[in-house]
Amino acid sequence: LIAAQAYELRKPVYIVGGFVRDLILERPSFDFDVVVEGNAINLAKALEKNYGGHLVSHSRFGTAKWQIDDVRAELIRYLPGDGHFDAADLPESLDLISARTEFYEYPTALPTVERSSIKLDLHRRDFTINTLALRLDGRHYGDLYDYWGGMNDLRRGSVRVLHSLSFVDDPTRMLRAVRFEQRFHFRIEERTLELIAEATDLLRQVSADRLRHELDLMLSEENAAAMLARLDELGLLRAIHPDFIWKNEWRERLESALVKPLPAEWDLPDSAGHMPARRFIAYLLWLMQFPLEAGLAVANRLRFPRPMLQSIQAVSLIKQTLPALSSPRPSQVVNELDGVSPLALYALRLDGLAPNLEILLEQYIHRWRKIHPFTGGEDLNRLGLVPGPAYRQILTQLRNAWLDGEISSPEAEQLWLS
Ligand code: CTP
Repeated sequence: LIAAQAYELRKPVYIVGGFVRDLILERPSFDFDVVVEGNAINLAKALEKNYGGHLVSHSRFGTAKWQIDDVRAELIRYLPGDGHFDAADLPESLDLISARTEFYEYPTALPTVERSSIKLDLHRRDFTINTLALRLDGRHYGDLYDYWGGMNDLRRGSVRVLHSLSFVDDPTRMLRAVRFEQRFHFRIEERTLELIAEATDLLRQVSADRLRHELDLMLSEENAAAMLARLDELGLLRAIHPDFIWKNEWRERLESALVKPLPAEWDLPDSAGHMPARRFIAYLLWLMQFPLEAGLAVANRLRFPRPMLQSIQAVSLIKQTLPALSSPRPSQVVNELDGVSPLALYALRLDGLAPNLEILLEQYIHRWRKIHPFTGGEDLNRLGLVPGPAYRQILTQLRNAWLDGEISSPEAEQLWLS
């Protein structure tokens, strides 16, 4: 559709970057970046007019996002191979970009943007393996453009920058280099490694949001642990914060957090502080390996949400208090664990506990935390007690009596109260 529309407007149009790279590596992806030599917003407007959907455009960058989620069922009618495609095969949106060059006035600044050819557009990109372009319009359909040696580096398995200021322009590319290297089992090329070594310190100036975005992407990859190990080896974690490290011995724990199905019986929340549960547990498992102060310092540097900071503290405290209780009563265990996020308790469990403590944790999750007396504040009121702090005390004592087996029926509870 895009090719036909671009052909009508007489504009060369290309699929670039990740899609072409993945196609050549035989790892199909549906991540389409479309570049137009001309005005992408005009092309997007023509597509919207003819086929529906809606647009979000940024005139400063000459980019448009064509959102097609609500017209996918109609769009598949235009695709070849009768019935071959399903609406769900199509992406929810397509990014259309006007070919452009970017200048950085100073490191980490927002770039100054100018229209350009596809060749220059490809040159502003991070690595040669991301600079291949597949042309779509008219008789050029299927032509592969390889201006910057991308094919060669794909064959060799090299992650190579296009110019020596690439990491100065955008230091997060150092993290991307590691992600691509480990994802494809490539090697970061020699000169690129030197440039990383020279630019490492620039990571200090990068915002928490941008760093977190890159780390989040790593945690959603199959080789996450290998990526973190490589970041550590290259000194990139310590550049983010001096206490930030990775050790290979943490690998299994991290992988179990990222891959193992979350146990339904734990009733874990889906997220905490706007982070999906699994990612929350993975970061926590990582940060709880550090001494408390270091864990908190790294979490602050990366601006983790409050529940993460609270969980780091809670886990550290439980690690001290729980083993110190010798043959504790259930009420003592509940007293230690109530109020702590179940995600933190699950992280503690994945981290590995002494067998006797693991049993206590399991008992708490599966039984004790659910035990509550029948009596509530209103009942105490009816008994003539003046509302106040005593309520809480009485109800806690009552719950403890249930937990410790001193009460086991509603009648016994009434007796206890009287
Ligand atoms: N890009 C860049 N510098 C960055 C981020 C992105 O030059 N800091 C370029 C890359 O060349 C990339 C394109 O913008 O090909 C699109 O970015 P993204 O979608 O993140 O890259 P993909 O290669 O598609 O990555 P992934 O396979 O992880 O989706």
